[in-house]
Amino acid sequence: MTLTMAPLSLNEHPVIEVARHVQGLKPYQVVSSLDHIQAHPEQTPYKIDWNESTVLPSPKVAEAITAFLQGSHHLNWYPVLNSANLIERLSRFYAIPEEKILVSSGSDDALNTLCATYINAGDLVLVASPTYQHFVLFAQARGARIVPFYASDPFTKDVAALRAQIQREQPRMVYIVSPNNPTGVMYTPDEMASLIDVAPNTLFILDEAYGEFARASCLELLGDYRNLVITRTFSKAYGIAGLRVGYAFADGTIVSDMRRIASPKGVNVMAQIGAIAALEDQEHLNWYVDQVERSKQVIADWAEVHGVPCHLTPANFVMMQFEQAPWVVRQLRNAGVYVRDRSAMTNLAGYVRFSVGTLEQTEIVLQHLENVLTSLAQPSA
Ligand SMILES: Cc1ncc(COP(=O)(O)O)c(C=O)c1O
Repeated sequence: MTLTMAPLSLNEHPVIEVARHVQGLKPYQVVSSLDHIQAHPEQTPYKIDWNESTVLPSPKVAEAITAFLQGSHHLNWYPVLNSANLIERLSRFYAIPEEKILVSSGSDDALNTLCATYINAGDLVLVASPTYQHFVLFAQARGARIVPFYASDPFTKDVAALRAQIQREQPRMVYIVSPNNPTGVMYTPDEMASLIDVAPNTLFILDEAYGEFARASCLELLGDYRNLVITRTFSKAYGIAGLRVGYAFADGTIVSDMRRIASPKGVNVMAQIGAIAALEDQEHLNWYVDQVERSKQVIADWAEVHGVPCHLTPANFVMMQFEQAPWVVRQLRNAGVYVRDRSAMTNLAGYVRFSVGTLEQTEIVLQHLENVLTSLAQPSA
């Protein structure tokens, strides 16, 4: 006997509940400026809100993708599994064995995979804060209890206090961004080692998304610790955020564990090809990193002359403080300059984050900022 049920109308259908740990979460606050940029084709946009590169990537990226698309089989086949082609190049470039590398769809994907692989509901995850919020969301979605660590001054690191908290709490996981987004705080290998040493059962995730700009890294620690993962990305200095490629370095045991759930075809074929081409053009990378470095000095000089509190960072962004931050952000937006208001974050009242680009772009951005501040200083009619 077959039971037949009268089909429900759409309104009668029950709404499917999300998983328990996701119920309390809100989508990552997406404040993309792209809509505004597309609505104002008359303006030259200065998109300096998401710490992307402000210039196109190496021309070799488009050349390699175009050459691939001219081949006989291009998009109909799956990509190279596990991005083995890119892993081989990264292994040679960094002199790190292939089994210690996992390539992911942006470093976000590596962070999410780490949370999925290692967090049990109720686990404690300690986060050096303020920080990149998306990681927090990934951990919360697995049921983690987030414990933030705040130094008394957000722009100054307090390794001793952080170490004491790690030692006391013995968390399941620690997440540190270095140089940190948005404060620029950076940890040396010795400092990181001193943190890891007090919690051998804790997994330390060190997010070096901005490592190329800082020209520094804790990679040398990988040989000494089984509980350290370092994530990096092609989205920032290499300028291919749109292709979505990141990677993680860790002990082989960790990479194998991540592979239990990471999709072997999770990085698309053009992303693999583009990332290989970008990695091979170190000249382009060095040119851009150098431009950003010099621009930061120009910004520091400008801020000093204009009396604007400004923190340079070792990454490709600076933080400036304004009494009327939301107003300044709105006015800049009207002029086609898109910056990120961070003034609502804990301990960052009044702070606005500016990604830094080339010297030429910096001159223009500063001119816009000067116009905005001048209009602020003038009594309204
Ligand atoms: C600290 C940090 N980690 C990771 C990411 C994500 O980068 P990806 O594009 O590689 O996913 C960002 C992006 O802004 C970031 O600031």
